[in-house]
Amino acid sequence: MKILVTGGAGYIGSHMCAELLRLGHEIVVADNFSNGTQAALDGVKKISGSDFPFYETDIRDENALEKIFYEHKIDCVTHFAGLKAVGKSVSEPLEYYENNLNSTLTLCRTMRKHGVFRMIFSSSAATYSPENSVPLTEDSVLGATNPYGRTKIMCEEILRDLCIAEPRFSVVLLRYFNAVGAHESGLIGDCPRGIPNNLMPFISQTAAGLHSELKIFGNDYNTPDGTCIRDYIHITDLIDGHVCAIEFSAENAGCEVFNLGTGRGISVLEMVDAFDKTNGLKLPRSIAPRRPGDFPEAYASPEKAEKMLKFRAKKSLEDMCRDTWKFQRNVPSEMR
Ligand code: NAD
Ligand code: UFG
Repeated sequence: MKILVTGGAGYIGSHMCAELLRLGHEIVVADNFSNGTQAALDGVKKISGSDFPFYETDIRDENALEKIFYEHKIDCVTHFAGLKAVGKSVSEPLEYYENNLNSTLTLCRTMRKHGVFRMIFSSSAATYSPENSVPLTEDSVLGATNPYGRTKIMCEEILRDLCIAEPRFSVVLLRYFNAVGAHESGLIGDCPRGIPNNLMPFISQTAAGLHSELKIFGNDYNTPDGTCIRDYIHITDLIDGHVCAIEFSAENAGCEVFNLGTGRGISVLEMVDAFDKTNGLKLPRSIAPRRPGDFPEAYASPEKAEKMLKFRAKKSLEDMCRDTWKFQRNVPSEMR
């Protein structure tokens, strides 16, 4: 199959590229490098030992996207391109709505024009209302607390409406929980620009001496150890979920939504302790006030994905900690 990977120079997209090449598929990558890097693409080339067509382009640019679809007979699109920083989406809502909605709309229009009807869309657990009880099922109430999450809800609605109007479309919406870890080679991984907002990159950068200590945002939540609980899923598992979704989309028209998580809640303290233990480290840490907007507990019900996609996460907490640290020690300077 020939698969277009939008956002393929980013964290999750680059792992998708490596896996699709490993499975013998052809890929075409489009990324505007707003957050992705050439180093990630180079990492994919090293891992796979093969080259692939890359377009440095903004997928909101209809002419540029047209060119890709004219030059390649695409069978399926994995659509990762998007802005994802929750805090920034609060201070720059127009940029977030503009980018995440227009990229999806332009992509859908171009796909339809060229007779390409299969898409795997990167949605997020950020679409769920914090009022839900856990585990979160695909039927839990939606209600994002920030513009980023709302762009994902809106894209989901656009894609659902499209599938109703155009029954040839087959779209799989994947609501990711917290993606962590890195490729086992240590050549690609999560390498945010600037100071990381997310826990795992902050942990690994602190271990590398880039920050004086890890601040744990709140230990007075109503959870067993007082820190927030999340569902961390290894990037390799997350990518396996996409491979299952691509297969599912070949056989099922319409729009279907799935959680991609492990179903297991891990607290911040548990994660830091596991990172220390796995890697023989002792991270400097302190307890800081709660981070505004955080909620105590979110983890997935993985049942629907298990049943319908035949997907189940396999990697352990130790795998997540080991691979994150391996990548951090390897980070190419041009990725920093
Ligand atoms: P990332 O920022 O590393 O990758 C996104 C890529 O898209 C970047 O390389 C960026 O340059 C590119 N991009 C953004 N807008 C573009 C545009 N208009 N045209 C072309 N390229 C564009 O992020 P990621 O962690 O790999 O996330 C991939 C997708 O998964 C995003 O849509 C994100 O919202 C979603 N998601 C991620 C997580 C997570 O834990 N990382 C969780 C839930 C959902
Ligand atoms: N945390 C710290 N210290 C840090 C960073 C984070 O204690 O330096 C804590 C947070 O307070 C939270 C937990 O670690 O309790 C996880 O925080 P992250 O920022 O890593 O992840 P979130 O669950 O807040 O959100 C992430 C992405 C969203 C995505 C969501 C999916 O940022 O885009 O996971 O569940 F939608």
